[in-house]
Amino acid sequence: MKKVFIRTFGCQMNIYDSERMLAMLQPDYTPTQEWEEAQLILVNTCSVRAKAEQKVYSLVGRLKHLKRQRPEVIIGITGCVAQQEGENILKRLPHVDLVLGTQAIYRLPQHLKQIEAGHGPIVDIALGDDFTQPLVFPTTTEDLPVKAFVTIMQGCDNFCTYCIVPHTRGREISRPPEDILKEVEYLVSKGVREIILLGQNVNSYGRKEKRFPSFAELLRQVACIPGVWRVRFTTSHPKDLTEELMQTLAEIPEVCEYLHLPVQSGSNRILRLMNRGYTREDYLSKVKRLRQLCPDITLSTDIIVGFPGETEEDFQATLDLLEDVRYAEIFSFKYSDRPLARAKNFPSKVAEDVKTCRLAQVHKLQSRITREINESFIGQTVEVLVEGKSPKDKTLWTGRTRSHHVVNFIGPEGLKGHLVYVLIERAGQHSLRGQFKDLIR
Ligand code: 5AD
Ligand code: SF4
Repeated sequence: MKKVFIRTFGCQMNIYDSERMLAMLQPDYTPTQEWEEAQLILVNTCSVRAKAEQKVYSLVGRLKHLKRQRPEVIIGITGCVAQQEGENILKRLPHVDLVLGTQAIYRLPQHLKQIEAGHGPIVDIALGDDFTQPLVFPTTTEDLPVKAFVTIMQGCDNFCTYCIVPHTRGREISRPPEDILKEVEYLVSKGVREIILLGQNVNSYGRKEKRFPSFAELLRQVACIPGVWRVRFTTSHPKDLTEELMQTLAEIPEVCEYLHLPVQSGSNRILRLMNRGYTREDYLSKVKRLRQLCPDITLSTDIIVGFPGETEEDFQATLDLLEDVRYAEIFSFKYSDRPLARAKNFPSKVAEDVKTCRLAQVHKLQSRITREINESFIGQTVEVLVEGKSPKDKTLWTGRTRSHHVVNFIGPEGLKGHLVYVLIERAGQHSLRGQFKDLIR
């Protein structure tokens, strides 16, 4: 039996794609965690920021030595760097056998056969009909994790001026609802209890496909499948967050009271330069409406500091917004130029040390807010979906609340995959700590 090693960089979409590749490779290849014993090494790449891309080149560069010693090992680059660079990868990394774009994944098995027959290297970065392919489910009999991603759309039409995604993932297309529901049914039959619907911009699901339901309707259909206990979704674009979706989130018990709503900046001038399609006021009024409909909702966001032209005043507006909204968690990044993204050619680039300083200020402010929110859980009993033993301490169970907070707790054996009540006793920066109270189901 041959073995495959996959290293995945980047977002949940890449994690999902890596799982799909593993499923397609069965039964010819079984996964391994040790690249030294693999006959096939796949690096599923991210190019959203320059740093992510550099990591890929340095990792694959190091595989040159291995290829010299064992030329029969097949090395493949997949994902966004593959899509973006195509043939160029072979110039820089001549030991690579396969460059596979973001929508060419389903052709992986056929390309491998060609390469094994001596017809490599192969570059396939065609964008097109990925969603028209038959579903492939893993044939593994192993337990699946308690939660799983399901892609509902790919690509993006928004062209935020800093972003490379529309160039690496192509135009927005939605996946047929039947396939989504079938995949969810399969996952639930294997014991999965939490479904996370994925797309670059889930709120515009089905907008181009007349026959498809709206995203809110799709959420209802997924939540109705017996065995689905929790549903989440990401990523939501604030400009496409509709009243219908906010109401659905508030009404359907399976849909968790948690929303990742990337704001990127608190300054209207910068939001306009970013081509985000909303103002600070539009954003805040949606947050207000969400909290009206769903008072317990937890929010998280993405922030970019040091976008070209960002002044101290613009930056201050971002800090003010963080104080205003009080996100439970944020993901913050220094702006980085990306090829093909329009902002690369914008004037007034912000100096690196200024970006570093702004990022540190964001971290400092958010650490305080996160700590305050986490501490407010102390003494409360919360619902936790148990994912398994904590990787850091095997005497503790770990899982997440509906609000997406990590909870580590002491409890009896056999809790994996169960929904339980936990009394929170302590709060750290990244997780909550508690005591098992009761089994819900
Ligand atoms: N520079 C910095 N951050 C970026 N992101 C996307 N493109 C860039 C870039 N060029 C961030 C955004 C997005 C997240 C996934 O990555 O905040 O929401
Ligand atoms: Fe990139 Fe904007 Fe599309 Fe998100 S919505 S993937 S940030 S272009």
